[in-house]
Amino acid sequence: MKVLGIVGSARHDGNTACLVKKVLEGAKSVGLDTKLLYISDYQIEPCRACMKCKDPEFSIECVQEDGMRIFYDEIKDTKLLVIGSPIYFQQISGQTKMFLDRLFCYVLQPTPEKRFPKGVKYILAFTCGGAPSSTVNGVAEYFRSRLSDSFGMENVGILTGTAGRPVAKDEALLEQAFLKGKDLSKISCTLP
Ligand SMILES: Cc1cc2nc3c(=O)[nH]c(=O)nc-3n(C[C@H](O)[C@H](O)[C@H](O)COP(=O)(O)O)c2cc1C
Repeated sequence: MKVLGIVGSARHDGNTACLVKKVLEGAKSVGLDTKLLYISDYQIEPCRACMKCKDPEFSIECVQEDGMRIFYDEIKDTKLLVIGSPIYFQQISGQTKMFLDRLFCYVLQPTPEKRFPKGVKYILAFTCGGAPSSTVNGVAEYFRSRLSDSFGMENVGILTGTAGRPVAKDEALLEQAFLKGKDLSKISCTLP
């Protein structure tokens, strides 16, 4: 079973990447395969709201053949996701929001084969500038509910770090992230 990490920050060695990588490290330590993708490494256009994805005759996810293709293909190939976003102006980052919008192709689909794959479980990882606050918790809840309610995924953990510490030096948080990654092995045993 593969665990796919998706990072919505351009900083490969930033706080969010550090947190997501630690979850993947935990998963790898118990024998799971891992893969890490940074949204900003790919040329991805915003959703055009053309609604072509809702056309029953249209068979691929999106009319825009761009960098989202690798994410659509990778998501189909796993049941375990770790999605990380920094907090930007009290929201998920622009990269993360664009990624979310491009998953719209899976919404409002009458046939199961065009919907988001079933049985996907996910961990969320957020990092912010100040101490994690009720605002950050609100963003986390917003993103969790969009992923769970719109795509039927099940959340199995939320991690929150701060650049103030920073994450690479926050041993308690890194330990928590590592253990969350290890736990994915138990979760993977319950997957169909
Ligand atoms: C454009 C921008 C907006 C930000 N807005 C907020 C914010 O509203 N609240 C906050 O706590 N931190 C904010 N930050 C700080 C980042 O969330 C924080 O430094 C985060 O750890 C960066 O993640 P990264 O190292 O993975 O890029 C902002 C940073 C940037 C670049």
